[in-house]
Amino acid sequence: MSRDNSNDSKSRLTRRHYVAGAGTLATVGIAGCSGGGDGSDGSDGGDGSDGSDGGDGSDGGDSSAELEIVHWWTAGGEQDAYQALLDGFREEHPDVEIVDNPAPGGAGSAIDTVIQNRVIDGNPPSTFQIWPGQALTPYTDEGLLEDIGESVWDEEMRDAYLDGVRNLAQPAGNLVAVPINIHRLNNLFYNVSVLEEAGVDAADIDDPQGLLAAMETVATETDATPMAHQTQAPWSSLQMWESIFIGQQGVDDYQTLIGGDVESLESEVRTSLETLAAYAEYYPEDAGSISWDQGNNQVIEGDAAFLHQGDWAAGQYGSAEGFEFETDWDMVPFPGTSGVYQSVIDSFVFPTNNPSPDETEKFLNYAGTVDAQERFNPIKGSIPPRTDVPMDEFGDFLTRQFEDFQNSNTQPPAIAHGTAVAPAIQSALSEVFANFNGSLNVDAAYEGIRDAF
Ligand code: BGC
Repeated sequence: MSRDNSNDSKSRLTRRHYVAGAGTLATVGIAGCSGGGDGSDGSDGGDGSDGSDGGDGSDGGDSSAELEIVHWWTAGGEQDAYQALLDGFREEHPDVEIVDNPAPGGAGSAIDTVIQNRVIDGNPPSTFQIWPGQALTPYTDEGLLEDIGESVWDEEMRDAYLDGVRNLAQPAGNLVAVPINIHRLNNLFYNVSVLEEAGVDAADIDDPQGLLAAMETVATETDATPMAHQTQAPWSSLQMWESIFIGQQGVDDYQTLIGGDVESLESEVRTSLETLAAYAEYYPEDAGSISWDQGNNQVIEGDAAFLHQGDWAAGQYGSAEGFEFETDWDMVPFPGTSGVYQSVIDSFVFPTNNPSPDETEKFLNYAGTVDAQERFNPIKGSIPPRTDVPMDEFGDFLTRQFEDFQNSNTQPPAIAHGTAVAPAIQSALSEVFANFNGSLNVDAAYEGIRDAF
């Protein structure tokens, strides 16, 4: 696919105004309580969904019986979690042939172009991974996603989901996506031995400036890289800036920011950018050529102290040999953000002109079950959006995250992971941070952020 094509597709998809909706889907909603399970094993999506002829408006013609899934879960624990999801689906639907079609690249950095071109060309996959919320709007604006409010979202499923998450699946009013997880973004992971050697106690780091001091100590006292950050793709710096901003200014200002009023926060934004620029001294020498999971590997190997990353990083620790929670690694909320559960959610959708309406419906039904979410999330490093998933197999770390979620005051959406702002804004911001990674120029970044909104 040529670059020209992709740009063209992008502009066709982004020709409408998104700003009106930005920031309105601003929170996942109050953390609900877990029902603790009612004995339901959830797999009720089962074959109840058979008999569909795509008569819900999908005009895909003959069902091919092949289910093509496009996603970006190819790193560490991501891949294992995805396989666990497919295993569960295959148990229920051995007749469906799955065509696995990954578009590798952390945070979906490579999936957009592929999907947008295919959806616009009327040649979509059966389903694809996408963040709910604002990221869906280019598709819903153009009517490119089927309404699955009847075929998939039956009453049982509607009742079981956290309201805030279900709302994100209906940015235009009707339900078009099935969310499958809730990640937390504002984590600071660390290698326990490296911090011990440095004499740093993560629990004592109070704010983003304090983290700078801790990194300085790691640099002086050990041979380890203080912060295992990647700058090959801009999203990790964009998300770290979000956490710094929340850590310094709080969530109310963050909400103002994602609402687009950057100018009223000029000095606050500049301060957060200065902090991020100061962190850059402590990145790995190869930061510009590694992926997020390669960075995380440096933490696993004891070559790096800290990592700011979503808790998919914990999924990777789960699939690493002999790297144990609390003895070898641990996590504190990013300094200054305790009480905040900044959420990142993945979902699957039913594109129109679907090549396999029956199979797609079966898959989406399955993704919404207790069984699917109980298999997928513990390995992925996320908690389930259904409130009735038994939590006993989630391990100590996710149990703690789950408690933090329940006790959190607020669950703001993330910019770098599509839920908070429209894709046009997100991509302008990505460009700002791609430049910032190279230049560390605060003036240019401030202006870029202001203009992006
Ligand atoms: C997704 C996660 C994924 C991470 C890194 C995020 O945008 O929501 O599921 O693990 O990117 O690829």
